[in-house]
Amino acid sequence: MSPAGTLLALLFFATFSLAQEKVVPAAACADISYTDVYKPVQILANADSDCTWNILRPSSEKTRVVFSVLDLNPSADCSQENITLLDENLGELGVLCPNSQRIAVFESPGNVYVKLHTASTTYDRHAYFLYYSVTPANDVQCGGHLNGISGTISSPNYPQRHDHFTFCVWNLEVPKNTKVKLSFSEIFVEPDAACRFDFIALFDGPSTDSNILDILCGRTVAEVETTSNSLTLMFSADYANSYYGFSTTYTALPQSNNSSLACSGESFTVVFDSDYIAALGYSGNELTLADASCTPKSLNPIVFEVPYWGCGTVKKVEDHTVYYTNTIYLQTSGVITRRKQVKFIVTCELDSDSTVEIMYLTEDDIIHNQQEIGNYDVSLAFYPTQDFISPVQDSPYYIELNNTLFLQATVNSQDPGLTLFVETCFASPTANFQSPTYDLVRRGCAKDDTYHDFPSGNGFARFSFSAFKFLYTHTSVYLQCQVVVCDTSDSGSRCNQGCITRQRRDLGSSVWKANAVLGPIRLKRHSESETAGSEGEKTEDVVKTEDVVKTDQSSLYVLGISVLVVNVVIAALVLMRYARKNPTGYRYHSVATQ
Ligand SMILES: *[C@@H]1O[C@H](CO)[C@@H](O)[C@H](O)[C@H]1NC(C)=O
Repeated sequence: MSPAGTLLALLFFATFSLAQEKVVPAAACADISYTDVYKPVQILANADSDCTWNILRPSSEKTRVVFSVLDLNPSADCSQENITLLDENLGELGVLCPNSQRIAVFESPGNVYVKLHTASTTYDRHAYFLYYSVTPANDVQCGGHLNGISGTISSPNYPQRHDHFTFCVWNLEVPKNTKVKLSFSEIFVEPDAACRFDFIALFDGPSTDSNILDILCGRTVAEVETTSNSLTLMFSADYANSYYGFSTTYTALPQSNNSSLACSGESFTVVFDSDYIAALGYSGNELTLADASCTPKSLNPIVFEVPYWGCGTVKKVEDHTVYYTNTIYLQTSGVITRRKQVKFIVTCELDSDSTVEIMYLTEDDIIHNQQEIGNYDVSLAFYPTQDFISPVQDSPYYIELNNTLFLQATVNSQDPGLTLFVETCFASPTANFQSPTYDLVRRGCAKDDTYHDFPSGNGFARFSFSAFKFLYTHTSVYLQCQVVVCDTSDSGSRCNQGCITRQRRDLGSSVWKANAVLGPIRLKRHSESETAGSEGEKTEDVVKTEDVVKTDQSSLYVLGISVLVVNVVIAALVLMRYARKNPTGYRYHSVATQ
């Protein structure tokens, strides 16, 4: 664009933006219906108010309601004072209480009713929401889940104007023990003293239910840090005055001590604050692992992915505990240097209950260390035959009566020196295993006479069982297994002890235990079901179960089974405790139809 063109554009922009100053009159408090495609609603209310705003929209369109201000009387009780959103079909979509966060988004097809009740105390209540129908024409595809250690997020079309009704939610997740640092290079969204209209909302955690860190609008820049290793960023725009949006970079930074270590199943991740390394007189590209050909994966922040196998990682087995250690060196060029000699010793320790992470920094005589918790990844799959070549992919997996089921547990690690042992496996009609359970194997001792374990190998354990004997008439069975991970060279490990009777209940030699739940397992249709065919109605399976059970002659019901879940990643006992809170990513505050 020529300078004159730029000037013209600026003039136009200035006039345009001034001309569009938004004024939203307060909505009347009564029983009011709106049929507009979109509407901003400014709420001002005092004591004893009772208002209902009925948003009447076609059921073929999704109605989105975005609250950007919520200031109810903080001393009022939610049962006395709240804003309740109702869906004509689903009922309550959500309730905003005096202590709720000011940003909340609800989505539901068709009509939505917003009801405000206030308590009898005097207080100037304010709230603001925008509703609109989401249509193919205004539905901007944006947002998503981002993993990793650094990157950029920009509003749609940036550096051009974003569309009206842009609504995006990004979830960022950085390695454990790190936090997210966001640095906005530009924010240019519709100015408003309260950021009611267009806004960027930052949440300190994995969802929009997490605490609000900041709400940004106008023309500004910002730097924000989270406390945890996840962040949720919402960008919402209304029906007018779309500017250029925002652009921000994010990086992972250690949560404390300038460095962090996290041991996952695949590798261990070491993150250094690059300013910290700079303060030691070095730059990131002077750092390597013990094997000097292994360099950082990223320089800002400085990140090493340390493999359990390779790059100079040393494995040590001591008292049935496995330690993986590597050292990060600051490489000097060989000439005498006045810089400090620094090395970081990083160790992942895997013991019977958990993975412990240890990090030492030796800086001349100074040693710092950190400890953390982690886990291995173990998965479990069914195989159609005992060659264990390709796992069963079908879901559900139907087998004939008296067929044998083959299972393999696999540890997902690069370390070839690991083996597995299936210690305990039992079945139950419910997923929470509170009902009576039926043992296949317990403490390494077979409890079902068809249970058979195959020789285990590097990184896996295999077993089978046939005609599933189980004393109940439910149609679903869940299978739970505990798997122990051991070092292959450790002859005294739990994996080499086999059946342990009650007198020898010592589990001390296990390296690590994983806990898997598989299921539900369904009773197979009887032979006439072949004709029932293609519709595959599961309810029919359930009904026919009775026949299967009745025709069985033995006192124990011999049940053929079908397995629904085939490729389940085993959640470790440890993992269950430390699992990410919300692995499915973001959810809105109260969106019923996600
Ligand atoms: C919201 O307020 C109404 C009216 O006071 C009350 O009936 C309702 O129970 C409240 N909702 C909640 C969740 O407290």
